[in-house]
Amino acid sequence: MVAVCKAGGAIKNKISLKGTAYMGRQLLLEKVKVENIRLYDVYRREGGYRSVEKALKMTPSEIVEEVKKSGLRGRGGAGFPTGMKWSFLAKPEGVPRYLVVNADESEPGTFKDRYLMEFIPHLLIEGMIVSCFALGSNRSYIYIRGEYAWIVDILEQAITEAKNNGFLGKNILGSGFDCEIYVQRGAGAYICGEETALLESLEGKRGNPRIKPPFPAVKGLWDCPTVVNNVETITAVVPIINEGGDEYAKIGVGKSTGTKLISACGNIKKPGVFEIDMTISVEEFIYSDEYCGGIANGKRLKACIPGGSSVPILPANLLLKTAKGDTRIMNYESLSDGGFATGSMMGSGGFIVLDEDQCVVKHTYTLARFYRHESCGQCSPCREGTGWMEKLLLRLDKGMGKISDIDLLWDIQRKIEGNTICPLGDAAAWPVAAAIRHFRDEFEWHVLNPEECTRRNYGLAHYAEPLAVPA
Ligand SMILES: Cc1cc2nc3c(=O)[nH]c(=O)nc-3n(C[C@H](O)[C@H](O)[C@H](O)COP(=O)(O)O)c2cc1C
Ligand code: SF4
Repeated sequence: MVAVCKAGGAIKNKISLKGTAYMGRQLLLEKVKVENIRLYDVYRREGGYRSVEKALKMTPSEIVEEVKKSGLRGRGGAGFPTGMKWSFLAKPEGVPRYLVVNADESEPGTFKDRYLMEFIPHLLIEGMIVSCFALGSNRSYIYIRGEYAWIVDILEQAITEAKNNGFLGKNILGSGFDCEIYVQRGAGAYICGEETALLESLEGKRGNPRIKPPFPAVKGLWDCPTVVNNVETITAVVPIINEGGDEYAKIGVGKSTGTKLISACGNIKKPGVFEIDMTISVEEFIYSDEYCGGIANGKRLKACIPGGSSVPILPANLLLKTAKGDTRIMNYESLSDGGFATGSMMGSGGFIVLDEDQCVVKHTYTLARFYRHESCGQCSPCREGTGWMEKLLLRLDKGMGKISDIDLLWDIQRKIEGNTICPLGDAAAWPVAAAIRHFRDEFEWHVLNPEECTRRNYGLAHYAEPLAVPA
């Protein structure tokens, strides 16, 4: 563990990994601190809606091409290439097409979309207008989680202002293009973030995921071709059109182009939303004052869930370096290096840090409880399996478990993964698998020390030590 602390302290002396001319550049949050940027007049004065003016002089296919060139990947979790998704959209004659913005953001640890919508709402509206034009959609929806009630008012004000200034409604800027945006509140169900459950909910039904195929690009909202994209994905379209796809692709590295919003929380000194250029190391992100500022209260790093609650937890050693010994970078490729055996995922960018006092068993139980509660119940492995995992984890957490419970837990998660209608089953299985894979000794300690383990901050130094890289 000392090595981790030393490494943290050594950041100032090491050669920065930020090799691009875009070091520290902000594409989405650059203007967020401008006073009253929520208001149309201020946003416009700061250069807002330029991308709409530019896009309306292009053809829709030229816009799709720019998005493809940018290498933008969906920011909702799966990282699917946005330009490719757009090009899959079916275009039958006489059938409406829809753009649906996924603002459900219920993944624990993820709060970046809320930040964008609350503080710079016109950026989303601007991105939606350009995207609708590219997709040939005249009607678009923002599906927002129910708990974000106050943001609905902010978005609706921004929509009204955009309309009053000719950027929404009929014949936008005299181009002949019509576009309307509506905001729909969900009722606070995590599953409604899954794109097909979201569409069901938007149609007024219970938010149960649909069997795919058909995918929404062919049969989506009201059976019409639909693109569902995350809030951050759609806001990224604005700088892509303003600066060109090639310029955007120069930021970052490999298939991790552009900037990424990370919502950082847990045992760090500076929780918050940060825009990074996907070339910085995980170590720098955690320890640098520019970002998380280090571990809070002088504690040591134990583990981290780097991409929202669904992605595998990593112990400190595998978080800072890959199993091959390379520096772990905050991007799609590096965070997943090693697969699930030794790596994790970028996911939605919800970065949850655990210090040495945190109990992985309790933590895994909390997540299992969440997934059991949020399962829609359509498929048995998820409906039953999430409940069994919750019960076993509670038993282990309370010091009432057996060693065989750990193997049973492992077995259950294996039977859920890949055997369900939607990825919520996987999302419930992965945290359990990773916790057992990397912290099995902590689970066993709970069985062998039933009284001690019920103390909340037991903080055994042993468990703060990064574990050996699994073979
Ligand atoms: C259980 C579950 C919850 C999800 N929640 C969200 C969410 O809150 N926001 C989001 O953008 N994507 C969420 N997704 C992913 C969406 O299904 C979809 O892939 C995404 O909205 C596509 O947008 P993107 O390509 O821009 O990332 C969730 C997926 C699952 C399985
Ligand atoms: S995996 Fe779970 S949430 Fe998804 S459809 Fe099946 S039961 Fe519902």
